[in-house]
Amino acid sequence: MTQLNEVSLPTYRGRYYPRSRADLVQRVAKQVSPKRFEHILRVEEMALRLAKQWGVDLEQASVAALTHDYAKEQSTQKFLDFIDAKQLDPNLKAWNSAIWHGIVGAEIVADELDIQNQPILDAIRQHTTGAPYMTTLSQILYMADYVEMGRDFPGVDEARALAFEDLRASVGWQTRHTLAFLVANGKPVYPLTILTYNEWSVEK
Ligand SMILES: [Fe+2]
Ligand SMILES: [Fe+2]
Repeated sequence: MTQLNEVSLPTYRGRYYPRSRADLVQRVAKQVSPKRFEHILRVEEMALRLAKQWGVDLEQASVAALTHDYAKEQSTQKFLDFIDAKQLDPNLKAWNSAIWHGIVGAEIVADELDIQNQPILDAIRQHTTGAPYMTTLSQILYMADYVEMGRDFPGVDEARALAFEDLRASVGWQTRHTLAFLVANGKPVYPLTILTYNEWSVEK
């Protein structure tokens, strides 16, 4: 099966992160619970397989995957401080870490991990909400987070297979299902998610 692409871990050449992969892994592990760390490693594995499938640089995919949830367990105060310091949309303050860890998390990653590659930072920003325009790297991270091998929800096998067959369609699939879940459960929908849905999930 295509999703069983064998991919070995890339050796970093300093193009996206100034030190080694092992160094990055160690720094990420210090910021998150063991359970989340395992998820992050599985996202990296899936992102590498998808990167191989869709012709994206493996080192870039690895850095994006390893850092995508770096900020997930940071304090509310820290997120609020970053929203002010980086002059992000003040409306963000009404949300929570589920939204902040991507959009604000990218700023934290840039500052604390010395990662300046904009496609990586955008992929981190967009990994929870999606966005109307996403690079292939952003699409890969969005999907790898959703279908990593530890995920278990109705339809996960279909979504995983689709990510290898038609990446764009799989982004639409995830967005449609996430939006349906949020609405069915009376949860708030971040406005950007609706823009993502209109771009990626609506038949044109
Ligand atoms: Fe996340
Ligand atoms: Fe994640």
